Parts: sequence; structure tokens; C-alpha cells
Amino acid sequence: MCGIVGYIGRRDVAPLLLEGLQRLEYRGYDSAGVVISGKSGDLRTVKAKGRVRELESRIPKRFAGTTGIAHTRWATHGAPSDENAHPHLDTAGTVAVVHNGIIDNASELRAKLTADGVVFASETDTEVLAHLIGRSDAETLEKRVSEALRAVEGTYGIAVMHKEFPDRIVVARNGSPVVLGIGEKEMFVASDVAALVTHTRQVVTLGDGEMATLKADDFRTYTTEGSLTTATPTTVEWEAESYDMGGHDTYMHKEIVEQVEAVDRVLRGRIDDRFATVHLGGLNLDPGEARRVRRIKILGCGTSYHAGQIGAQLIEELARIPADAEPASEFRYRNPVVDPDTLYVAVSQSGETYDVLAAVQELKRKGARVLGIVNVVGSAIAREADGGTYVHAGPEVCVVSTKCFTNTVVAFALLALHLGRIRDLSVADGKRIIEGLRRLPGQIDEILKTEPEIKQLAKQYADARSMLFIGRVRGYPVAREASLKLKEVSYIHAEAYPASELKHGPLALIEPAMPTVAIVPDDDLLEKNRAALEEIKARSGRILAVAHQPQEKADHTIVVPKNEDELDPILMGIPLQLFAYHTALALGRDIDKPRNLAKSVTVE
Ligand code: M6R
Repeated sequence: MCGIVGYIGRRDVAPLLLEGLQRLEYRGYDSAGVVISGKSGDLRTVKAKGRVRELESRIPKRFAGTTGIAHTRWATHGAPSDENAHPHLDTAGTVAVVHNGIIDNASELRAKLTADGVVFASETDTEVLAHLIGRSDAETLEKRVSEALRAVEGTYGIAVMHKEFPDRIVVARNGSPVVLGIGEKEMFVASDVAALVTHTRQVVTLGDGEMATLKADDFRTYTTEGSLTTATPTTVEWEAESYDMGGHDTYMHKEIVEQVEAVDRVLRGRIDDRFATVHLGGLNLDPGEARRVRRIKILGCGTSYHAGQIGAQLIEELARIPADAEPASEFRYRNPVVDPDTLYVAVSQSGETYDVLAAVQELKRKGARVLGIVNVVGSAIAREADGGTYVHAGPEVCVVSTKCFTNTVVAFALLALHLGRIRDLSVADGKRIIEGLRRLPGQIDEILKTEPEIKQLAKQYADARSMLFIGRVRGYPVAREASLKLKEVSYIHAEAYPASELKHGPLALIEPAMPTVAIVPDDDLLEKNRAALEEIKARSGRILAVAHQPQEKADHTIVVPKNEDELDPILMGIPLQLFAYHTALALGRDIDKPRNLAKSVTVE
């Protein structure tokens, strides 16, 4: 999705902005642009369709200034083009705006402004804001911006520069992330800490309805109505180096390999051997409240939703609380019954996915209690939730989620164990699960060592036009996530089905050109899963099994180490992340930035 970066200070601004934009490239974009306040005070703009390097090549030799804002655009209103790239200026060229989000009433405002004689230079919704601010004669830039924002409906994270107010950048947030970076006699702004951490780790995250004014040696935050708000900088835990590729060819590979440490991190300091339980400090749910929970509803999108499906099974198995997961994007549109005895859990890597955030806000409006299972500290969902737990996966840069999926499932296992131990789960089972959790990092390491074999298999299956993924009960969400991974990164069509449903339709698809990837854990459903393999083999289907022992009916088996039955899904997805990665590599795909996708979907 779109990215914003801005700077005000004493340093030459253009290289800083370009570096910031490069750090935001992973979010997905189709054009980029920059505006700086030149020596004469004029706003100087350069824009380019395509990559940041294209923008860089267009920056003139003399392009000096110490204040500027820049943007990577993901097209919503108007095709990717130089004209539609941000920043957008008003007609006189006095105001420049970069914007993430969508102005819902843009066409209405555009019609009004056009009737007043304004000529638009782009097809974007954002340009409306530039004209509204430019036409205001309020005394301060802050008032001009808030006046314009009162006229718009929709979501925004914006940064604004004005020729008459060269000592400041004004920013505002409603539904799209804005983070201030606090430096020594210099200030930064960005839509994502990734663009700031090489310069400062002191950050302030704006809340919805908040604005801020950045000057070189000062900043203040306030509401759109002008009342000051308190903003205490916090320190970003993630090191700048965690955003680098660290010797890998892609972030996806780096992040798959990092899972050994990532899982270790989510467990660290949380296990209580004495009571065979875990401590999750931020839940804000006392034992009495936890015992009164009658149902758990998990909401997330994409991979986080799949992690939530495994989470629901873990909660039912370990805590015996009825639980299910639903895509947040569906839930928020069906006027759901919000039940006071249900605990809602919102799951998100970024903590900024708009559909999840909107579902959380709707639930809170209706009085529900919402926990967040989130990766990005201080993100909107983490702030909006009543409590929750961070998954500590570290920054995930590749658009395709891998390590965060695994860590989220482990976080669910911790939540399930915690809830189980204050309800029915025995000490013996608590200990068994704890021992299983402790084995995970070593077992992930074992799986990663099979990469050369998985690479060979991926080459053999890369010619498939479509693949079927099947699993039963615990294996089904694993199959769904593996199918999503493959399609996202390799563009091979993939479909996931419960193995139990084969006879009810998908069996018709089976033929040699349609391989099946089957999740076959050594649990109480092993024989049932084997029967499904027989059915596929009888119809000349090719089978790749992920199992705890070689499967006779499969053409190939990736053997993974056995853990406790409940925890097996955590491990069984990992070889299929590598499988998706190597398939995409064999097909020459843009692995870290698959076509049409963005890292965090902060618009509807
Ligand atoms: O940041 P979130 O976890 O809320 O993102 C949700 C989905 O957009 C995300 O998981 C998406 O499906 C990824 N591309 C999966 O690889």
C-alpha cells in the first residue's frame, strides 16, 4: 500500500527521502514522488511512474533543501502515472500533500471545486485535499489543514507542506498509520517505522483524529479541533539491521529461516514450569473473567485468519472453550450478534489491516471485549484492543507472511494453554504442551535442513497449472495457508479443501496434471488421511505428502518431526513455505513483491 516519508532538519533532504522510500518499497506501490522546499522557498516536485530508482534518476543535480515529503503510491483513484503520483499541489503550487487512504466523498468535492473554477491536474482523490487547503485563508497551516479535513470523509494519513509556512510539516491521521520520528534537531514522519529506524528509534504513533506539527527542533500533537494531546516518545525495539536482507537473496527466505529464533522469542520469559502454565502479561483478563468466557471468536484476514483457525482449534482442544475464526472482512459487514460472554480476538501482523481494525472498532462500540494478537508494537489494532499479546516475530518485510504466521500460532498455543490451565487442563497436559513448545525451535531447525530436498521437489511441481491442498481437522488450516502461500508467490492456482470433502466434489479434478499436496499427521486421523491418498492415487493423481513418516501412496513425502498432536500444525506448514518459495524461484517470480499485492492493506 502507499507509503509516506518526510523530514525537517538540517540535512540534505532528498537522499534521506529516497532512502526512506526504498525502505517502504516492500509495501507495494506503482509510482513515487517527492517535494522539497527549495532555497527560494518554492515547492519543487519530482514524480515518476514505476520504481523509486526511476524517481531517483529524475531528480535534478541541484535539488537542495532541508524539508521535504515523499510518497509511494498504490493506485486507487486513477491509473499509475506521473500525474497521479503524489505529492499533489494546489493550482498556485503553494501547498503539497501526500496521502495514504481513500477520500470517500472525493467526487462530490471535486465537482464542487470544479464548479468553482478549480482545474485538476490528476484523477486522484488526494488532489481535492491540496485544493481545499490551498483555498483556506485561516491564520495558521494547522487550521487550514483541519478545516480541509472537516470537509472530507474517509481514511487518511497525510503530510502537508506549505510555501508560506516553510518551518513546518503538518501531519494528520484517520485510519492510516502515521509515525513521528524524534531526532536531535531533526524530525521525521513516516507511515511505517521501517522508514525511520536507521535515523531514530524514538517514535510517537498518532492516534485516529490526531494531528501533529513537526519543526526541526520541536513537535506537538493535537486533535483536529486543536486541543493539545500528550505524546510521549517510545523506543522501537526492532534494530535497523532487522530490516536488512542479512545475506539472503530475498526477505521471504530470510524470514522463513528466522523462524527458529522468532519462535524462541515468543516463548521467552513466558513459561511457568511450576504451575505448568504461561504468563501473558498484557491480556488484561483476570482468572475470574477468563472462566466466565463462554465462546471465543477470532477475526483476521489472509494468513492471520488461517493462524486464527489453528488458534481456534488449540483453544477448543486445550481450554475446551468453543472457538471459531472468521475473516474480519466478512464479519464486519454482516451485522453480527455481539455477545457479552464471547471474547473476541483480533489477529494481525501489521496491526493496521483496515478490515480488522474496523471489526475491532465495531465490536468495541457494541461493548465487546477484544484482545489483539499482533506483531507490530503500538499499531492501531494493538492500541484499540482491550489487551492482548505481541507475537514478537520481528519485522516482516516480505509481502508474503511466513514467520509471523508461525509465531501467531505459537502465541495462540500460549493463550490456549493459559486459558486451559485456569479451567480444565490438567498439570500433566500443561507440562506435555510446554515440553512440546520447547521442542519447536530445534524441530524447525531440522525442517530447514531439508531445504535442498524441498527445492528439488519444487522444481518437479513448478510446471503444474493448479494444485489441490488437502488436510483434515488440524491439517485443514495448514492446507489453506500453504495453498495461499503458493498462489501468492508463484501465481499457480491453488485450492484447499478438507480431505473429508474430497468425495463431495473435488475428486472430479484429480488427474495426473493436478497434483495434490496432502497434510498427513500421525494422529488419530492418520488412517482416514491415508484413505484419501488411496482415492487420489486410484485416479492417477500425483501426491506430495507432508507427514511424520513416508507415505506409501504418495509420490513424494516431506517428513517433518513429530511434536504433540495439538502442536503439529505449527511445524507442518513450514516445509510448504519453502516449497512455495522454491516454486516461485523456479518460475522467476518477484518473490518479495508479488504482483497486485501489498504488505498491509490499510484501505477497504
Ligand atoms: O497484517 P495482517 O496480518 O493483518 O495482514 C493480513 C493479510 O493481508 C495478510 O496476511 C496477507 O494475506 C498476506 N499477503 C499473506 O501472506
